[in-house]
Amino acid sequence: MRLLPLAVHRPHGRPHVTCRYRCHDACSREAPNPTDTTPFREVAAAALSRRRVLQAGLVAGMAGTLAACGMGGTGAPAQAGASTPMPSPFGFTAVAPNTEDAVRVPEGFAQQVVIRWGDPVLPGAPAFDPNAQTAAAQAQQFGFNNDFLALLDVPGRPGRALLVANHEYTTEPFMIPGYDPAAPTPEQVAIGMAAHGMSVVAVDRDPASGRLTPVMDAVNRRITASTPMTLTGPAAGDALVRTTADPEGRTVLGTLNNCAGGVTPWRTVLTGEENVDQYFANGETVDDLALARYGMDGGATERRWEGVDARFDLTREPNEPNRFGWVVEVDPFDPASTPRKRTALGRFKHEGANVHVGPTGTVAAYMGDDERFEYLYKFVSSRTHRAGDTPADRESNARLLDEGTLFVARFSPDAPGGGPDGSGEWLPLVESLADGTGRSFVPSMTAAQVLVHTRLAADTVGATPMDRPEDVQPHPRTGRVYAALTNNDERGTPGKAGVDGVNPRAENTNGQVLELTETGDDPGARSFAWSLLLVCGDPAAADTYFGGFPKDQVSPISCPDNVAFDAVGNLWISTDGNALGSNDGLFAVPLEGPQRGRVQQFLTVPRGAETCGPVVEDRLALVAVQHPGESDDASLADPISHWPDGGTSIARPAVVSVWRADGGWLTPRE
Ligand code: FEO
Ligand code: CA
Ligand code: CA
Repeated sequence: MRLLPLAVHRPHGRPHVTCRYRCHDACSREAPNPTDTTPFREVAAAALSRRRVLQAGLVAGMAGTLAACGMGGTGAPAQAGASTPMPSPFGFTAVAPNTEDAVRVPEGFAQQVVIRWGDPVLPGAPAFDPNAQTAAAQAQQFGFNNDFLALLDVPGRPGRALLVANHEYTTEPFMIPGYDPAAPTPEQVAIGMAAHGMSVVAVDRDPASGRLTPVMDAVNRRITASTPMTLTGPAAGDALVRTTADPEGRTVLGTLNNCAGGVTPWRTVLTGEENVDQYFANGETVDDLALARYGMDGGATERRWEGVDARFDLTREPNEPNRFGWVVEVDPFDPASTPRKRTALGRFKHEGANVHVGPTGTVAAYMGDDERFEYLYKFVSSRTHRAGDTPADRESNARLLDEGTLFVARFSPDAPGGGPDGSGEWLPLVESLADGTGRSFVPSMTAAQVLVHTRLAADTVGATPMDRPEDVQPHPRTGRVYAALTNNDERGTPGKAGVDGVNPRAENTNGQVLELTETGDDPGARSFAWSLLLVCGDPAAADTYFGGFPKDQVSPISCPDNVAFDAVGNLWISTDGNALGSNDGLFAVPLEGPQRGRVQQFLTVPRGAETCGPVVEDRLALVAVQHPGESDDASLADPISHWPDGGTSIARPAVVSVWRADGGWLTPRE
């Protein structure tokens, strides 16, 4: 196989320790997509088109070029020629950028830590003791590095909800005192495996506030790197997914590197397995080009699980990696249910999956492959959604994500009529059929090959390489799709794809937010129109754009990652890896009316942390505070964060609820 070059850490918003443990240096080594599918004439046209957009934004926000970014958007001092301030549609004063070891929320809001790493999830779980942690305890406690969150009301139980959280990855040196990365003990490996996966925790809602109280209920569940799961769809049972322990190729143990996700209208949770390459050792022993395309390389892994469990050693189980990198569907209401790895949705570094149901019941699941120069995908169901809740409805809906067509996006710089925005098409890759077989649209690849090696299939059809597609989420009311494109520091560098309309900046450190409108507002459409809602970064910089809103009235925003919508239809964006020197945060932005594009920072998270999994309800906002204190300059003995417990405590990833202290609507109503 082709070995990838050694990682060279580049300056960007995240410390190297995060890169190593979360994503196998995905953001600091050379991107594994060698394909440049953007024709030169499109690049040239796109550069012209995008310049029009950026110039429009620059003119609209001319006064903003004088405003000091470091003061924060609405906190920026008035300048000569400043735009006329408009009252905030959100009824709060933006939180200023900062580097504090705290969750900062606007004046008039209250907050609470709902649950943190090590807190009990299963009834009878032992109390957390970081100095005496065991795998058996961890498997009953809240896992590490919470990312995606869902909050689902329990039918027939007013005030009771289920909190679902992903546990993306572990950073053992920040978890286990005395940990030796070169020689972890089997028990330490088992702790790491038990700290991955998901948690389902019942919570009681306080009727007077946004406070949530975990309840030790029989529905509570921990899913780990060892929980049995079923492969479904055409890749299930294929030779590519068979192993010694599972010669049928249908039962996988565990889920790994669960990043973002989504809630379906049929009340299941979808979760994306993302940077799974890092768990598999000795890639140099396997002659498989697809391994390199998925970022797998040679030698030992960071966590050394291969020393304890043969399935993480490619010399012994070369097909095991093909069993990870899927979207997993989980029924959080049934703790005995078996999670399903839905192969019809393709295998790549899934950020998450979010579903929209069209007027005829067709379901589209939108997905991003989070790596530089990777692609945007959607799956369109063949079956239609049934809104009822009878056993027959549930059985039918359970097959929605097994039968349908997987598409990848190709963007063009200009719509047929011209103008600053563009159009695009959805290119079919494979159709998954009711009988469990599939029909490939990619010459020389079988359906199972397209599903397992989806990146290779997408390369061949001419998909557009993007600036790290993270959350891709349809607006629940308009059906317009919003995609966070986090950053891409290799865009436009020698030998790499250049700028184009939808990825308009070379060496892009701050990212952009894309707005995509399906033709006919049909989620099953084969074509779409697009525009950029935000070109993120310092509002004072000429290359940023905030939907045309005056830039002296917006908050700086960098590296958009997860998106959510409030009950009024505004977009909320969390960030990962602020390139502007502030802690990460959560931001709100209107999508309609005269304040479209007005970004306001709602909160910041503590030092070293990333803001994940936002859930925005009528009266509360939930965020996952992931990897607080993670820094190249820190250790358990010398931490930079003591959040959330303060004093000399170790930092613990946790879920935070925020609400208006007077109990009012989170987002004001007319
Ligand atoms: Fe786990 Fe794409 O961030
Ligand atoms: Ca993410
Ligand atoms: Ca991210």
